[in-house]
Amino acid sequence: MSAQDFLHASQNRIQAWLECFLQRQNPLSADLTAAMNHAVLNGGKRVRPTLVYGAALACGGTLKAADAAAGAVELVHCYSLVHDDLPCMDDDDLRRGVPTCHKVYGEATALLAGDTLQTLAFVALSEGGLEPALTVRQMQRLAVASADMAVGQGLDLAAEGQTLSLQELESVHRHKTGALIRASIFLGAMAAGCRDEAVLAALETYADRLGLAFQVHDDVLDVIGDTSKLGKKAGADAEHDKATYPSIMGLDAARAFATQLHDEAVAAIEPLGCQANALRWLADFLVARDH
Ligand code: IPE
Ligand code: IPE
Ligand code: MG
Ligand code: MG
Ligand code: MG
Repeated sequence: MSAQDFLHASQNRIQAWLECFLQRQNPLSADLTAAMNHAVLNGGKRVRPTLVYGAALACGGTLKAADAAAGAVELVHCYSLVHDDLPCMDDDDLRRGVPTCHKVYGEATALLAGDTLQTLAFVALSEGGLEPALTVRQMQRLAVASADMAVGQGLDLAAEGQTLSLQELESVHRHKTGALIRASIFLGAMAAGCRDEAVLAALETYADRLGLAFQVHDDVLDVIGDTSKLGKKAGADAEHDKATYPSIMGLDAARAFATQLHDEAVAAIEPLGCQANALRWLADFLVARDH
């Protein structure tokens, strides 16, 4: 199997799970339901669910046991995108190749859709069928990651127009994007019932490096990417005078940094053998992607 094959299989699997999950929720507000469906079911690479599945497999678990965690991290991610695009934040009109949630449903409904998606993520985990102690660890980790993401979003907004040190920028990225990627790996390991501290430590290092590489590459794509491929507006960071890796260290150095982080991520899971192949493919894909 290749990265593309694994990604594709995971995308199909989580799409079906998300459709089924959203269909079961309170249908009383047609607008809110439509806004949530728009935010969640309109494509997306499904990187975080795929990382959950990859981590579960690396720990000898099944995809089925990891479905609820994969869905939960994507629900939090989709909520974060809806709010990230709002006029009071990045003010973006295009997401995943279609108009952003607030452009279609208005700001109030988009705000509520984000709120609802976040809490539904925890409903999903509660229904995940794992032994309770593992579910609690998943819930705790996802809650902390979601809070850290909001902290990072706050730091990101405060940094507009400012010159950050590399250390400060790294902290923004580790919070706003890294925390949820690290949580995705941990939730996948919990879904597999992993209690091996050495394996968990290796996965944590992998997720730490990859989480940062992911946002560095997102910053790079904002400079070199193409709006039609990205499905979101290229050049938006410069327009908002965002603090990004290319703006602080230059484009070539940012690309080299992403590669270095990728190499460190892959080295960390070397001891896990071929069970971790999906995570290796994903690391390769994430720093080579054009969208
Ligand atoms: C975009 O995330 C926001 C960041 C954290 C950089 P993705 O690139 O995973 O977005 P989708 O889910 O594929 O649309
Ligand atoms: C978004 O970072 C991070 C979160 C949504 C938490 P960006 O603002 O760089 O994401 P894009 O580029 O709009 O997808
Ligand atoms: Mg943003
Ligand atoms: Mg944005
Ligand atoms: Mg970006």
